[in-house]
Amino acid sequence: MASDLHVQISPSLLAADFANLGRQVQEAAEAGADSIHVDVMDGHFVPSISFGEILVDAVRRSTDLPLNIHLMVQEPDDLLAGFAKSGTDQVIVHAEASTHLHRTVYHVKELGCQVGVALNPATPISVVEELLPFLDIALVMTVNPGFGGQSFIPSTLGKVRRLRSLVQELGCKTRIEVDGGVKADATAQDSVRAGATILVAGTAVYNRQQTVSQAMERLRSCIQGLKAD
Ligand code: DX5
Ligand code: ZN
Repeated sequence: MASDLHVQISPSLLAADFANLGRQVQEAAEAGADSIHVDVMDGHFVPSISFGEILVDAVRRSTDLPLNIHLMVQEPDDLLAGFAKSGTDQVIVHAEASTHLHRTVYHVKELGCQVGVALNPATPISVVEELLPFLDIALVMTVNPGFGGQSFIPSTLGKVRRLRSLVQELGCKTRIEVDGGVKADATAQDSVRAGATILVAGTAVYNRQQTVSQAMERLRSCIQGLKAD
């Protein structure tokens, strides 16, 4: 059941120092990150443009950790093969960005990757209900996508809880991931209690106040021993 899974931490590179990206990835790996979250933005689905396949390749060369690739990209199908090059990777597409979500999900699976679907704060769970048994990850956006450093939207916790119930009801193994505004405080703790088993953390891990190792330690100890209610 989802509640018995080890809670994973996935540092988001969006907040990292891009001039020292390889080192920042290695620091996260040494500090016990479970995967590296990579935010791909296209300037259409979200206003910003972040980076593409070439940079994802560079990140892949700097770590053996799975890459948790979050595609904030309108109609991602033509780009999937370029990003999905390793069976250990996790490719997450947005429900709102794909006209034929079932086809997109199967395309990722055929490429040998784990597949996830992300839901914006205003998108209901019903959009992924039919696909849930086929998903490795359901990502609940806890901010509106597009920028790091935003505040966690508390009402999204209800969606995490309902999603967890549905995952249990259907008996599937889908992990629930939360992304946006997660810090070493009630945002991380409440997310875990609600049923999240992957926490994305950008500015909570990469910031000027502490080292990556200290930040990861704070995050890990703040959720120590917590489980879904
Ligand atoms: C936002 C991105 C997030 C972002 C999180 O659209 O999907 O992954 O990097 O950053 P923080 O943790 O700073 O909110
Ligand atoms: Zn993200």
